[in-house]
Amino acid sequence: MTRAHVIIGVGGGIAAYKVCSVIRHYTEAGHDVRVMPTRAALNFVGRATFEALSGNPVSTEVFDDVDEVAHVALGRQADLVIIAPATADLMARAVAGRADDLLTASLLTARCPVLFVPAMHTEMWEHPATVANVETLRGRGAVVMTPASGRLTGSDTGAGRMPEPSEIAALGDLLLDRADALPYDLDGVRMVISAGGTREALDPVRYLGNHSSGKQGYALARAAAQRGAAVTLVSGATSDPGDPAAVTVVTVDSARELQEQMSLLAREADVVIMSAAVADFRPVAVADAKIKKTAGGEPAPIELATNPDILAGLVTDRGEGRIPTESVIVGFAAETGDADGGVLDHGRAKLRRKGCDLLVVNAVGEGKAFGTDDNTGWLLASDGTETVLPFGSKTLMASRILDVVASLVPHGQVPSST
Ligand code: CTP
Repeated sequence: MTRAHVIIGVGGGIAAYKVCSVIRHYTEAGHDVRVMPTRAALNFVGRATFEALSGNPVSTEVFDDVDEVAHVALGRQADLVIIAPATADLMARAVAGRADDLLTASLLTARCPVLFVPAMHTEMWEHPATVANVETLRGRGAVVMTPASGRLTGSDTGAGRMPEPSEIAALGDLLLDRADALPYDLDGVRMVISAGGTREALDPVRYLGNHSSGKQGYALARAAAQRGAAVTLVSGATSDPGDPAAVTVVTVDSARELQEQMSLLAREADVVIMSAAVADFRPVAVADAKIKKTAGGEPAPIELATNPDILAGLVTDRGEGRIPTESVIVGFAAETGDADGGVLDHGRAKLRRKGCDLLVVNAVGEGKAFGTDDNTGWLLASDGTETVLPFGSKTLMASRILDVVASLVPHGQVPSST
């Protein structure tokens, strides 16, 4: 992305300190960052901090720099506005179209994507006034993140915790890449997503594993949750991409544990996505104690057994009515291409073999896909449709996959949970 103009609005909440990392993310990426705190925000973080981090002057008022008409100019030229923390009061003022400080005035002139990142006590988040305000903002096209659950100010815990800066930055970057990447179109859709790699134990300290970072599956869970889906993420080993806000995370180790969770959770799912890298084989025997070197001897061979094909099993479960017959099942294919065919040939054959509705085909090997932040590939549908997934961040790829998933979910945006 070329140098973008990013406004970071800061509301008066204790989470204001966390936004400093978001400011830094955008300045380090070379963007022009304008921080617009509310007057209340300056009770939590001082103006000097915001000025030092952004490299730009910081003002709360419409009547500063009147000659430059800052509230009009800055809002108009913005490519992205992030408001974090978005307090209940700040969202209410945005809904009302108030212009009583530089931030709300700029919101009225901005025509770019706006990302509200709420942070407040659970009661405030659940209050009908806030619920209605969030709905209004979403209805006007703004993205209002669903906050995380967890520790709030003081000793209370619950929904309302501000998502982590890395997650805010990932979604902000996504909106810079693609302004319409986060519509609220999966409201009430129940989604189960597997991610990461399985580990097949050899003894209490060793396992057979793979290079999966889990980033693509986590990006899918993050974007789906922020599009309104009720997401459960079943996670094997990852490079710790950070738990997505508003997502239930279940951790597993082996392929058989993953299979157990997936077949259980899929019974209540509208969409099942298998992005985990599942080990095809596991050691037949798991030693109770650490396997020792034998004096001067050769290592003992490892006998392997074949793991269940979880994805194919889910398709069978659906065919036999154990999971909702109208559910959408998505698989992934990591391919290198070989003498028998290219990446896409193998992908097409795999789609037929597995029987799922959609298959995301990635080229892997030589630094591609595993562990990287970017990805590219194709989305193959069982009706023969093939969509190119252009090179971009895994979050961008996730948004394109979810567009197609959303078009296949029964009744479009209507939750099928009842
Ligand atoms: N998968 C699965 N269970 C397995 C192996 C893979 O559910 N035991 C799923 C993966 O999560 C992915 C899809 O099947 O969604 C394809 O995985 P991949 O490793 O590309 O294919 P394999 O089935 O292992 O086939 P091959 O190794 O022959 O390419």
